[in-house]
Amino acid sequence: MTIDGAAFPAARPRRLRRTEAMRSLVRETRLAGSDLVLPMFVKEGLTEPQPIPSMPGVVQHTPASLAKAAAEAVSAGVGGLMLFAVPEHRDALGTQATEPDGVLQRAIRTTVAETGDDAVVMADLCLDEFTDHGHCGVLTPSGAVDNDATLERYAAMAVAQAEAGVHVVGPSGMMDGQVGAIRSALDAAGFADVAILAYTAKYASAFYGPFRDAVESDLAGDRKTYQQDPPNGGEAMRELALDLAEGADIVMVKPATAYLDIVRRIREATEVPVAAYQVSGEYAMVEAAAARGWLDRDRTVLETLTSIRRAGASVVLSYWATEVAQRLGR
Ligand code: PBG
Repeated sequence: MTIDGAAFPAARPRRLRRTEAMRSLVRETRLAGSDLVLPMFVKEGLTEPQPIPSMPGVVQHTPASLAKAAAEAVSAGVGGLMLFAVPEHRDALGTQATEPDGVLQRAIRTTVAETGDDAVVMADLCLDEFTDHGHCGVLTPSGAVDNDATLERYAAMAVAQAEAGVHVVGPSGMMDGQVGAIRSALDAAGFADVAILAYTAKYASAFYGPFRDAVESDLAGDRKTYQQDPPNGGEAMRELALDLAEGADIVMVKPATAYLDIVRRIREATEVPVAAYQVSGEYAMVEAAAARGWLDRDRTVLETLTSIRRAGASVVLSYWATEVAQRLGR
């Protein structure tokens, strides 16, 4: 068709979509195994790996299966591992979180021994897996989460994890001042090289549902007094400023897909690496729909991860990390 004698439309974006070679040449976002971090669960006292019903394909590991899966992830090209542990004994203070020989510290040693410096070994730094009440901190006599008493526990936990050889600690409890408290404890104990991946904007999200199965935590109540309120974006920027001032090395948004606007805002506001956590519920939704034949699983997995990268995250935590690294390479 012509308008005023000229061919119309003059601009044809479809020219750049015509062949895979052309699409590949102009592609803005690339995903690789080395961008990904695999979250892993280890449970004390297990003799066989245990499937997690609401996360098909994910297991609670034994020490041996943890080592094997870590090696597999690394040889596939996964960039990092994030360890979570389920202790046999829980109490009000989360004592096992800081024991030198606690299940998480042992898992760190096992993993570091297995993968050396070929992968970045990270550990969740939070008390919820270790407390009998299931909160991320210790409680006051009236049952509120006591921010500053919790910071002392986090500081001790950071040192215990560093002594076990962790490369990066991931404080996920959303206590005020947690990054600063952990940084000064690590530095005072001679661990200036241990980095902090701060859960900067962690929302009180329904998407963590299946994770409760994974760590067998039955929390009475909710985390709304410490995790962020989902409607708020500005609050994430305030948390970012605080975490950077306190010494965060990497800042993270969690969950990922429902919070891509926050990923983008944080990306534009800082030059430190931005991470995003594609959480248990994001994983379970796709697996459940794919199991019914309602979604093309493999395409959906790559599309979700690519969109998280496109929004501005350079590091993505995903339960699909090993599989995706196998498909895409390092
Ligand atoms: C807290 C923690 C949680 C997750 C990671 N770290 C649970 C929570 O905050 O309620 C959730 C991860 C996921 O859902 O995949 N230790």
